[in-house]
Amino acid sequence: MCGIVGYIGKREASPILLEGLKRLEYRGYDSAGVAVLKDDALTIKKHKGRVTDLAKNASAHGLSGMLGISHTRWATHGAVTEANAHPHVSHDGKIALVHNGVIENYLSIKKFLEGEGHTFASETDSEVFSNLIAYHYAKEPVDSPSRFLDSVRRTLSHIEGTYGIAVICTERPDELVGARKGSPLIVGIGADEYLLASDVSAIISRTSNVVYLNDGEIVSLKDGELNLLTSDEEIRTPEIQQIDWDIAESELGDYEHYMLKEIFDQPQALENAMRGRFSDDGSTAKFGGLNVSAQELRQVDRILLCACGTAWHACLVGEYLIERFARIPVEVEYASEFRYRNAPLDKNTLVLVISQSGETIDTLAALRESKRKGYKTLAINNSVGSTIARESDGGIYQHAGPEIGVASTKAFTSQLHILSMLALYLGRLRDMSYQDGINYVAALKQAPELVTETVKLNDEILEISKKYKDMSDCLFLGRQDMFPIALEGALKLKEISYIHAEGYPAAEMKHGPIALISAECPAIVLATQPDIHGKLLSNIQEVKARGAPVIAIANQSNPLPPELVDDQILIPDCHRAVLPVLASIPMQLLSYHIAKLRGCDVDKPRNLAKSVTVE
Ligand code: AGP
Repeated sequence: MCGIVGYIGKREASPILLEGLKRLEYRGYDSAGVAVLKDDALTIKKHKGRVTDLAKNASAHGLSGMLGISHTRWATHGAVTEANAHPHVSHDGKIALVHNGVIENYLSIKKFLEGEGHTFASETDSEVFSNLIAYHYAKEPVDSPSRFLDSVRRTLSHIEGTYGIAVICTERPDELVGARKGSPLIVGIGADEYLLASDVSAIISRTSNVVYLNDGEIVSLKDGELNLLTSDEEIRTPEIQQIDWDIAESELGDYEHYMLKEIFDQPQALENAMRGRFSDDGSTAKFGGLNVSAQELRQVDRILLCACGTAWHACLVGEYLIERFARIPVEVEYASEFRYRNAPLDKNTLVLVISQSGETIDTLAALRESKRKGYKTLAINNSVGSTIARESDGGIYQHAGPEIGVASTKAFTSQLHILSMLALYLGRLRDMSYQDGINYVAALKQAPELVTETVKLNDEILEISKKYKDMSDCLFLGRQDMFPIALEGALKLKEISYIHAEGYPAAEMKHGPIALISAECPAIVLATQPDIHGKLLSNIQEVKARGAPVIAIANQSNPLPPELVDDQILIPDCHRAVLPVLASIPMQLLSYHIAKLRGCDVDKPRNLAKSVTVE
C-alpha cells in the first residue's frame, strides 16, 4: 500500500514532504516522487527505488515552494518504473495528484478521456484520476472561488474503487485538497501549516493534532483554513484528536533494524497492554472501551474472530485461550473469506476483528459486513483513530507504540496478551473461580519479565541461525495453542528471508507433509506443553528417522533428550495463558537472524508493505 504526504504552509515544502515519506516507506517502497508548486510553476522529481535515492536527487535539483505533495509506491497497476511513480500530472500540466488505492473503473474513464483528447504517460490508474480532475476543472466556471475543490468533488462521484489522495493545481497555489474512500487519510494541524498523510508517522514530528477523515469525505486546506465536507457534501466541524505516542518511539535508536528493536520492545508493549486493565481485587481484567455490558457478554454464545496474516494467527491463539478459559465456542475466519461467505451466524454471536494498522481493507470489509448484519463488533488494534477503531462498536487499543518493521512482532504478542486478558475477563463473567482469576492475573503480570528473559536467548539463536541460513525449505510443527505459533513462525521466516516455510499441526505431518522431510528440509518443533510432551517426542522421532535436522523449542524444566534434536532453544516455564507469547520470541529471532545472514532487507522485504489497504 502506498504512502502519501501533502503540505501547505509557511515553510519550504520539499524537506517536509521527503521526511514524511521516509516515515511512510514501510507502506510501500518500490518508487517515490515529489511535486512542489511555486507561484504557478510545478517542479516534479520521481525515482524508481527508495525515498533516500529520491531525496538525494531532489536536493540536488532544489525544489522550492511552500505547497506540495509526495508519494512512496507499492505497485498495483503498472510496473515499477519512473513513469509509473507518483505524482501524476494531468495532460494539461495543471493538476498533480498522489493516490493510495485502486480505481476499478479506470479503463472506461481512460477511454472516455482519450476520446476527449487527453494523453497519458503511464500505465497507472492514478494518472486517470489527475486527468479526470483536469477535465472537470476545465468545465468549472473560471471565476468560481471553489473551482478546484468542485472539480475534485465532481471527479470523485465518477470513481469506483478506493482512494486516499492529495491534489494540487497550478492555478491555485493557495490550496491543498485531500479525499479518502477505503484508504486512510489524516490532516495534521501544525503551526501555520497543514499536512495530509496516510498515517500519523509522517507528521508526528511536526504536530500531534490530527483530524481523521472518514470514507467519502473531502478536505480543502486553503488560506490557513480547514474545510471538511462529508460524503453528503455537508460541512463537518473537524474533531481534532491527539496522537497517543511521540516521535521518539518511532526512532531506530541503536538497533540495526526496526524489527530487532520491536522484538526487544515487547516487554514494554505487554506492560502497555495491561496498564489500568485489572480489577481492584486483582481477580479479573477490565476494559474501558468495549461498549458491551457484562450482561450482554454473558448472553454471547459464539465469538467470531476475523483478521489477516499475523493477526489471523493471533485469532487462532485467541480461539484456544477463550475456549479453554472462558468456555465460549470460538470460530476463526480469514477476513478476506468471511466478507464473501455469508456465514450463518446467530444473533448472540460477537464479532471481534484484530488489526495492527486498523486499516487492512479485508478486515475493514469483514467488520462492515458484520455490522450490516446487525452483529455487535469489537476490534483489537494498535492505531488510535484508525478506520477500524472508529467503525467498530467498541474495542481494545494495544498501545504497543508504532510498529515500523513490515514483519509484525510486538503487535502480535501484544494481541496475544490482550486476547488472554479478554479470555480471563470473559471467564470470570462465567465459571472461572476467584482464585483461578488471581493466579491468572499474576501470570499475565509476570509476562514482561519472562519475555525479557527470553530475548536474552538472542546470541544463542544467532549461532543456531548460522547453521540453517542456507536452507531452502522448512517445516514448523506444533500442537494445540502452539500450532498457530508454528504458522506464525513460518510466516515470519518466509516473509523476510524468502525461504519456503510451512506451519502444520505436528500430528498432521504424517498425513502428507512428511514427504517433504529430508536432510535439506529441517523441522522446527514447538514442544512446550507438558500435557502432550510425549506426542511431540514421537513427532520429533518421526522427523529424525528420516534424516531431517530438528530445532526444538522446549521449556527449561522439560528439555528434550539432546540425542533427539540437533538444536534446542529453552524458554522459561510459564502459565499456559502466556505460553504463546513466550514461544513466539524464538520464532521472531530465528527468522530475523536468518534473513539478516542472507542479506535480506529485514524491515522492508520485497513485494510486501506494512498495511494492505487494497484487496
Ligand atoms: C505480518 O508480519 C504481516 N506484515 C502481515 O501478515 C500483517 O499481519 C497483515 O497484513 C495484517 O495487518 P494488520 O494487522 O495491520 O491488519
